[in-house]
Amino acid sequence: MRFSKLMDTFEEGIFANLNNKKLKLESSGKKVYDLFVGTPDFKPDLSIINAMKNALDDPNNIKYSLHDMDSLLERFIKHYKDRFNVELTKDEITTVNGTQEGMCHIGMLLCDPGDYCLLPNPGYVAFNASAKLAKANIITYPLLEENDFMPRLDLLDEEVLKKIKYVIISYPSNPTGGIITKERYLEIIELAKKYGFIIVNDNAYSDIIFDGNESFSFLSLPGAFDCGCEFYSLSKSYNTTGARISFFLGNSKIVSEFKKLRSQYDFGMFYPIQYAAIAAMDVDKTIIEAQKKEYELRRNALCDGLSSIGWKVNRSKGTMFVFAKIPNKYEDSLEFAEDLLEKTGVLCTPGAAFGTLGKKYVRFALVKPVEELQEVIRVIDESGILK
Ligand SMILES: Cc1ncc(COP(=O)(O)O)c(C=O)c1O
Repeated sequence: MRFSKLMDTFEEGIFANLNNKKLKLESSGKKVYDLFVGTPDFKPDLSIINAMKNALDDPNNIKYSLHDMDSLLERFIKHYKDRFNVELTKDEITTVNGTQEGMCHIGMLLCDPGDYCLLPNPGYVAFNASAKLAKANIITYPLLEENDFMPRLDLLDEEVLKKIKYVIISYPSNPTGGIITKERYLEIIELAKKYGFIIVNDNAYSDIIFDGNESFSFLSLPGAFDCGCEFYSLSKSYNTTGARISFFLGNSKIVSEFKKLRSQYDFGMFYPIQYAAIAAMDVDKTIIEAQKKEYELRRNALCDGLSSIGWKVNRSKGTMFVFAKIPNKYEDSLEFAEDLLEKTGVLCTPGAAFGTLGKKYVRFALVKPVEELQEVIRVIDESGILK
């Protein structure tokens, strides 16, 4: 059988070794602390599940869902106003079956084959997929720890800024755990307007931000609607990762073209899921606050705990991740992650998965309670791997 060259660009096997090691350890009865994937261990609020269940009782809700329900769009408009002080109209919003899926199509919307886009390095893997599926060329911008993992697009060559069709920005950032200031974001909007590229903002972790910092929607900044759009996923805030609930919003022309593209490959968001989305936005805000606090306690336990045993790890400022520089004696994140798993049973994601600048880092997902993270610190310390 012969497949397209595109398929060769998707590397499935690079973590196969790590996964095999994990399975082997588990089958030998050894405890594995799985901090690999960012799937929250918290439960969705019962009201979300009940809304979905109730909607399933009506056969009309099982038909093709060709439209976003008015009641959903209205609830979403209120949510964005209350949460981010952003005013939206219905033609500036559409649902997406998860940001991952929307992201994978955004390149096709904005690029012809051979066009250029600008992506963070390190960055979330779907950003790269968006470019590959569009056969666009990828230029990356560095996210460096010495710059607090914030972008410096103003330092890029003018030729780059002239030729890119879109840039993806995402804060709080996976995998770095960094956040961005409004000032830095305003600089990017200025550049987008000057050079005519589009900003695609991925607002996936707005409810997981620490130390009293406030997240914001890029659409709340002056000029944003002229040059971009934003994905807003409910996955992490409401623990609904499997339900695939996200929105694409912003410039109405871009949203309208996105809907046109989407109508070619999909018939919209399943109605029971639309009802679940409404219920999610009605969830008591104190629940979201408590969850944020719990992630913060986990962040403290892991970062401070690792630092206390001699592995200096800076506290992440947001997201459910900790991005830790690997010990000096290791060259590469995959080599370190394999060794860590073998010697301690702790499974993390090699930073190389997120781009070349992740090679000296590993990512831990904060998906276990504080007590278990304290155990993680203990087993790492006792293993002698840091010596
Ligand atoms: C930056 C970022 N964007 C989007 C997603 C996925 O969002 P969704 O569940 O809506 O596809 C993730 C999930 O890990 C993510 O880290």
